[in-house]
Amino acid sequence: MTKFPERVFSGVQPTGNLHLGNYLGAIKKFVALQENHDCIYCVVDMHAITTWQDPKVLADNIREVTAAFIACGIDPEKHIVFNQSQVAEHAELAWIFNCVARMGWLNRMTQFKDRAGKDREKASVGLFSYPNLMAADILVYRATHVPVGDDQKQHLELTRDIAQKFNNDFGPSIAEEGYGDQFFPLTEPLIEGPATRVMSLRDGTKKMSKSDPSDLSRIVLTDNAETIAKKIRKAKTDPAPLPDNLDELKGRPEAESLVGIYAALAETGKDAVLAEFAGQEFSQFKPKLADLAVEILAPISSEMQKLQADPGHIDAILSNGADRARVLASDTIKAVKEIVGFIMPAT
Ligand code: TYM
Repeated sequence: MTKFPERVFSGVQPTGNLHLGNYLGAIKKFVALQENHDCIYCVVDMHAITTWQDPKVLADNIREVTAAFIACGIDPEKHIVFNQSQVAEHAELAWIFNCVARMGWLNRMTQFKDRAGKDREKASVGLFSYPNLMAADILVYRATHVPVGDDQKQHLELTRDIAQKFNNDFGPSIAEEGYGDQFFPLTEPLIEGPATRVMSLRDGTKKMSKSDPSDLSRIVLTDNAETIAKKIRKAKTDPAPLPDNLDELKGRPEAESLVGIYAALAETGKDAVLAEFAGQEFSQFKPKLADLAVEILAPISSEMQKLQADPGHIDAILSNGADRARVLASDTIKAVKEIVGFIMPAT
């Protein structure tokens, strides 16, 4: 088996309303992984345009996600931060994967079904083939680990299927070119901890999302202290106090989600949160959750504001990151073209 050096890749769409679920399910983990890994974090603007984005707003949203990455503690010098459209190799590899992945695989993607809604005929072709581009994002760096929230699990399984089919289909060519028995790694998803699926504050059966029409359903990273406290105060709960064990949280989705949020913010487990708050009413627990959320999110929000006041600085970070990403991605594309049998430029 080919041994691949460990490398982390993940992406966030610049579609506005970056929220607590994105922070706890993904960005907070990106920050922690920097300690022991080489990391590449991408603002996936080409994914964003699979649904309509106002060109006047898109650039600001790209800068907003970049500012969030940095304000949360991602170091764009030690690691790589860039926006996807600056590295054309993502699109090149996605085309090859369009020819590797099967229609049947994509037809099973639940996120496409959710996002396309009832009128599938009107969804963009890009929305349907989105998971192939996502596989290309990851595999163009031959990344081995991908931190994401729970909603991306199926896309990461598809990424593994694509890698495996490519490795099989082109096996002899991969060996001939000197890459052993596998060219692409089978990437490991990193989906761990108490907040892999943060739920809407208005409905514990729906995940917190950027597109929910209700602002009260999510805490966004730009909310001020007062707004955060208000949204938590108004969060839907049930009348029972907090139990002393995890089993009794089952069937209480709103309660379970708030406990999960507290645990993730406090960097502990849900069981430890229950041990501390068992027997308390939500009227007692919510102000403590609000205090903790404000303590952690307020500095992020003010740092984001400072960073966004200087768009030139953010753009320079992105183009520097893209230059470094392109070096890695172009090596992969060169090898893939040789493996597939394309003729390379004469040297
Ligand atoms: P996106 O932009 O929808 O979300 C960014 C990250 O936030 C996580 N997330 C959540 N985690 C917990 N609770 C929630 N309610 C919640 N909502 C969102 C997502 O799981 C994700 O990790 N397809 C991806 C972007 C992408 C990507 C990639 C990710 C494109 N290429 C390659 C990893 C690797 C997406 O739409 O994420």
